[in-house]
Amino acid sequence: MGTFARSAMTTFYTKGVKPVIFSMAPDKVHDDMITHGSWAQKVTPAIGAIESLIKYEDPALVTEAYGLTLRNPLGLGAGLDKNVAIPGILQMTGFGFLTFGSVTSRVCPGNPRPWFHRLVDQESLVIHVGLANGGVEKVAARLRELKAQNNRHYSALPFKMSIARTNDTHTGDVYEGVEDYVKSVRALNGLSELIELNISCPNTMVGEAFTSPENLDTLLTEVDKVAPSQPIVLKMPSDKSWEQFRELVDVALDHDVQGLTLTNLRKDRDSVTMDPAIKGNLSGKPVREMSTDFVRRTYLHAGDKLTLAGLGGVFTAEHAYDKITAGATLVELVSGLMFKGPAVVGTIAEGLVELAQADGFEKVQDAVGSRADIAVATD
Ligand SMILES: Cc1cc2nc3c(=O)[nH]c(=O)nc-3n(C[C@H](O)[C@H](O)[C@H](O)COP(=O)(O)O)c2cc1C
Repeated sequence: MGTFARSAMTTFYTKGVKPVIFSMAPDKVHDDMITHGSWAQKVTPAIGAIESLIKYEDPALVTEAYGLTLRNPLGLGAGLDKNVAIPGILQMTGFGFLTFGSVTSRVCPGNPRPWFHRLVDQESLVIHVGLANGGVEKVAARLRELKAQNNRHYSALPFKMSIARTNDTHTGDVYEGVEDYVKSVRALNGLSELIELNISCPNTMVGEAFTSPENLDTLLTEVDKVAPSQPIVLKMPSDKSWEQFRELVDVALDHDVQGLTLTNLRKDRDSVTMDPAIKGNLSGKPVREMSTDFVRRTYLHAGDKLTLAGLGGVFTAEHAYDKITAGATLVELVSGLMFKGPAVVGTIAEGLVELAQADGFEKVQDAVGSRADIAVATD
């Protein structure tokens, strides 16, 4: 039933829904998704019914990470739902965990619109949001409200809260930046299962100040002092040499960082054909190989000292399995959901079990890092 329902849902999405929404301005589609989703998720019997039709569950998918037992290793990556507006809709798709944010200490209006462009044939989105969000106080209140409701349709899954530095005209020096992050870490202490520090948003006025080893060390020293109850994860940049990337991994290893999410959007636009006047950085296919390669190198370098989440261009089970065999315990996606529709999570989950068992592994998690020492697939 599940396989049939997912296949029917995928056909309905790709032949019916996607042509309509892909003909609309992407900023409007995103805004409508949040507005309509906020209402639609209140019809809990309907979202419960859709979830049970399209999710794929199998003991072989159960994954242990950060002291949590996840129903599968697949998570929503940061960016789709900044303010935790539609957890019910996102949970319905069958993920094992959800990332919300990035959220910042001050309310952040983001960059001037448009924020999104589609490169359909190149399986990529151009993102120029600039961290628009309602601010950490509002999001913390929302998380408290969800906890108090204790609604299994909204908050049964582990939440990862992504925190970034506020992107506005008040942004100051590195110490101001550290205070900004620390304020958000304090505000979200205890309100989610994980905290992710987004040090690598490429769409900001002041650039990525915390992707220098010195500044990252300064930031993590202060976050260590807060010692939030949740494990800290770092969201890593894309466009670095391995040497530069390894230096950041080494700083993380010196602090109380328990995992890395690899990687953020790509700034290098050479792999795509697009109007140079469009502002922003690339998701989807252009991130795929680079992020998998960083997973592989980081896994070989740090072993099991850090829990890795591979993110970038995951549209199929094969893409997800490449990241797992390269060393990722968890796999996240954002663009895959938009290009393939909500049934993609169950389809990838089902495919992962088949791929792992074809390789002789009883559980998908047993395959983590099994091909780290050989070159990654080219597509
Ligand atoms: C619409 C959109 C918004 C994003 N916003 C954020 C964000 O706020 N914080 C962040 O860390 N990454 C953000 N990202 C980057 C994604 O989390 C991810 O690193 C990147 O898109 C690669 O994954 P994908 O190919 O599955 O989309 C955003 C991506 C998209 C597509």
